[in-house]
Amino acid sequence: MEQKRLLGLYGGTFDPPHRAHVALAKAFTDAFPEAELLIMPCLIPPHKVREAGAAEGEDRLAMARLAFGELERTDVSDYELRSEGTSYTYLTVKHLKEQYPQRRLCLIMGQDNLAIMEKWREYRYLLANCSLAVAIRGDEPISGDIERLRKAYGADIHLLNMEKDEVSSTTVRRIIREGGNPKEYLKGTVLDYIRSHRLYGSATEEDKAMQSLLARIYAQINCLSPKRRRHTYGVEKAAFMLAKNHYPWLDRRLVAAAALLHDCTKEYSEEEQLITAERFAVYFNELELEAPKLRHAVTGAAVARVAFGLPEEAANAILYHTTAKADMTPLEKILYLADFTDENRSDELCVAVRRRYYEYFAADRGTAVDRTLLYALERSIEILTEECKKIHPHTIEARNFLKESLADEDNKRRADSQ
Ligand SMILES: [Fe+2]
Ligand SMILES: [Fe+2]
Repeated sequence: MEQKRLLGLYGGTFDPPHRAHVALAKAFTDAFPEAELLIMPCLIPPHKVREAGAAEGEDRLAMARLAFGELERTDVSDYELRSEGTSYTYLTVKHLKEQYPQRRLCLIMGQDNLAIMEKWREYRYLLANCSLAVAIRGDEPISGDIERLRKAYGADIHLLNMEKDEVSSTTVRRIIREGGNPKEYLKGTVLDYIRSHRLYGSATEEDKAMQSLLARIYAQINCLSPKRRRHTYGVEKAAFMLAKNHYPWLDRRLVAAAALLHDCTKEYSEEEQLITAERFAVYFNELELEAPKLRHAVTGAAVARVAFGLPEEAANAILYHTTAKADMTPLEKILYLADFTDENRSDELCVAVRRRYYEYFAADRGTAVDRTLLYALERSIEILTEECKKIHPHTIEARNFLKESLADEDNKRRADSQ
């Protein structure tokens, strides 16, 4: 093997990459000091059926970068993940031979892979164009495959002596799924990534509590009339869309909980509204007593907070979803707008608000939410005035606040552009 021109190729699912993967990569670069190594997470392993809950390619790539990132002369490639269809090694080798014509390629694998080498697509091409570096672990007997492949195909096989290590990605995933801590098998940054992206069912106690809260809420939705249920799911969908477009860091489950409970008392009779208010110790102001339509926001927020244990920020989004208020939080804005932009609502005002949102979004994503809110508030005030109805002071304050802050934003931009 010509060491100076050697390029190692270490492919696999790396789902997740663990200490034995890293040890093998290091053993290769240690054994061939002039060599470089490409780590290649694959798209769909030809010999494996992916189990449900396996991580997406994007996550496996990110974890591979964290796991192998500090090894010298080692790089992680996204070539196979970007390719279409099944990842076949011979296609990657063809590509690498074109990209690195001066290099001798070397496939890195364990003895188990060597045993099924002749099942690999275009294995003769692979054996003719690549050397093999095979991990031999501890006191494992060296299989007869090595001699057989050498004799039958002239395979250029090198052995990498490794410590025996029973760890596998399957074991790591199982430990995580069962709530254990696989820190001895993974690099700290890989484990942090798994936890923060909730891979392999790595739910925390808080996640589990939220999960059971959402299950209770979904059960509650079944008690609503079909029309209200359709609207509720429509608001959830619109809220997800707004959160994704403008506040991707918002906890998706909190968005869902607020959206799903926003009208949970809307179908209560007047009497039921009063009983609920009394039971949850909330009071209607003069306007809410005059306008029954406003009451469900007050009782809905109370039910969400007390009966379902929703955090304050989600309960407040429900409280202000009909009137809005000055200086709203992202979740409050989202719920107020989602109630208007639910695709099931076909009244003139909702259609107009929906259209405005898309226009503002296309023109300027940064201010689209506030501009749509201002439009919705101004139109609502206009309609209430025409109908000679009282306007909630929170609605006026919300309108004035947004008008001012958008004017400030416009002035700032004008000054910046001069
Ligand atoms: Fe409502
Ligand atoms: Fe609603």
